Amino acid sequence: MCGIVGYIGQRKAYPILIKGLKRLEYRGYDSAGVALISDNRQLNVYKAKGKVSELEAFAAQKDISGHIGIAHTRWATHGEPCSVNAHPHYSSSERLALIHNGIIENYAVLKDKLQAKGYVFRSSTDTEVLVQLIEYIQDTHHIDLLTAVQLALQEVIGAYAIAVLDKDHPEEIIAARKSSPLVVGIGEGEFFLASDATPIVEYTDKVVYLEDEEIAVIRQGGKLKVVNLANAECSHEVKTVALNLGQLEKGGYPHFMLKEIFEQPDCIRDCMRGRINREGTNVTLSAVMDHKERLLAAKRFVIVACGTSWHAALIGKHLIESFCRIPVEVEYASEFRYRDPVIDCNDVVIALSQSGETADTLAAVELAKSRGAFIYGICNAIGSSIPRTTHTGSYIHVGPEIGVASTKAFTGQVTVLAMLALTLAREKQTMDKKQYLAIVKELGRIPDKMKEVLNLNDRIAKLSKIFTYAHNFIYLGRGYSYPVALEGALKLKEISYIHAEGYPAAEMKHGPIALVDAEMPVVVIATQNGLYEKVLSNIQEIKARQGKVIVLVTKGDTVISQIADTCIELPETMECLDPLLTTVPLQLLAYHIAVCKGMDVDQPRNLAKSVTVE
Ligand code: G6P
Repeated sequence: MCGIVGYIGQRKAYPILIKGLKRLEYRGYDSAGVALISDNRQLNVYKAKGKVSELEAFAAQKDISGHIGIAHTRWATHGEPCSVNAHPHYSSSERLALIHNGIIENYAVLKDKLQAKGYVFRSSTDTEVLVQLIEYIQDTHHIDLLTAVQLALQEVIGAYAIAVLDKDHPEEIIAARKSSPLVVGIGEGEFFLASDATPIVEYTDKVVYLEDEEIAVIRQGGKLKVVNLANAECSHEVKTVALNLGQLEKGGYPHFMLKEIFEQPDCIRDCMRGRINREGTNVTLSAVMDHKERLLAAKRFVIVACGTSWHAALIGKHLIESFCRIPVEVEYASEFRYRDPVIDCNDVVIALSQSGETADTLAAVELAKSRGAFIYGICNAIGSSIPRTTHTGSYIHVGPEIGVASTKAFTGQVTVLAMLALTLAREKQTMDKKQYLAIVKELGRIPDKMKEVLNLNDRIAKLSKIFTYAHNFIYLGRGYSYPVALEGALKLKEISYIHAEGYPAAEMKHGPIALVDAEMPVVVIATQNGLYEKVLSNIQEIKARQGKVIVLVTKGDTVISQIADTCIELPETMECLDPLLTTVPLQLLAYHIAVCKGMDVDQPRNLAKSVTVE
């Protein structure tokens, strides 16, 4: 949610900032802006409504000189998306400019205080309050920018990642964070700032992840200084990031989403690498082995997550309960954090998050930690906040996911959850050895089977054209396929703006069946598994009401093909691993319908990939 970039060094700042904003555009894209201290020491701020390309067009004829600057791409919280509300925000005298990701919760109180002193506000944002407050403190106490930022942040309640420029000090940027991510990149005599490492990796692989309430003082040619709000120096570890630039490009695909759907077989292989042995007979997650006693002693697991990750968590519940016989609860992190949950030191809480930055999931982790629970993180973004707060965890290793609608992260999460459940089951001896071996072997075959599913792409693209008329869709599944139905519906909603609901197939007759008519497409997951016959009856019920049924079946199914309008045949696999295959055609269906409707698939309206505000 909101992307921030900064640069100070010997290069021209503007091209670096614009390129960085484009890499971070997945975090928000309703308006963008840049502030530069020009070669003739002016503090120039340029802002535009819309995407970064609009900002570029706006700034094309302006003075974009300067070797120091900050830039921002916005996902609106306070104030509609427009150039006035876009960041950077000037202070009253236009001496300072500030960018911000997060929410200043007590902005109204601070604004009243400043207005009473005669300050006039140009925008409706919470952010402008902060920059005005910093200038007010600086002017009344006659202190330097760093001290003013420290004092201002002591008054702030909320979340922030900020960067501030002072026209009178063109040699430094002050940046700080609390509950919103901020990374400092260290080059040769130059520094970079960004919400994640993707804008930085092109220039340096040396980064420092700031911790909460830490302030970075970066000066051209100087050393990185990190202090806290009370001005005590903080030690900081310089980490090396290994990101391949190719992972950040579309690589010939029309959209990141399609690229990421097609990457899934390789991603799942990467996810399993070093965890499943060469012979494909054993699976080990090192984090599970390192904390075996604690995990085996748990009375209960609670998985906290949001969005797509919450759907993966529902599959994780099935896997862990059936393999390990440990009760598992799945909670929306946003609900969990505010409902005084019964949680104690006998519980293991799994925080599931692609970005590792989701504010609600992070808050749920802090709450569970404070009650003594053991926290296991499952994340994709290396070095993000959740893996740094949890007791242990496993990365899903599927590479950066840029398309806002999550695809490969979902299948990666399900794969890690399957490996976690298998490792635990073996150690707990809750699973028959033969069954364990069969599942591990089948997991190893999934990437090849996924490739087979991807061969259906052209067929699904053609099929999608028929459904662009639809205003509603229903997705049905049972058991392991129910969360897949939810995820299929979410994908369609997110990128095509068609209303879609996922239901457990048997629940349909308790309400949603009232919606079924000849106009209603119903997608049913009916692969060969324990509940096949039951789902078959559900399909009959829809057909009896003229619904249009698209069914995912196991290859060779001759029964459903006689009643369904369309069958999509998938390779056979074990029921517990079915979601890794059935999800893929639903991702493709959503993608192609959205493309047919001319939607912006990678950056759908109102959404953001990393939700760092609650
Ligand atoms: C946002 C994204 C979703 C994602 C959810 C949770 O809503 O648009 O794709 O599933 O956040 O994100 P996380 O990074 O915690 O998995």
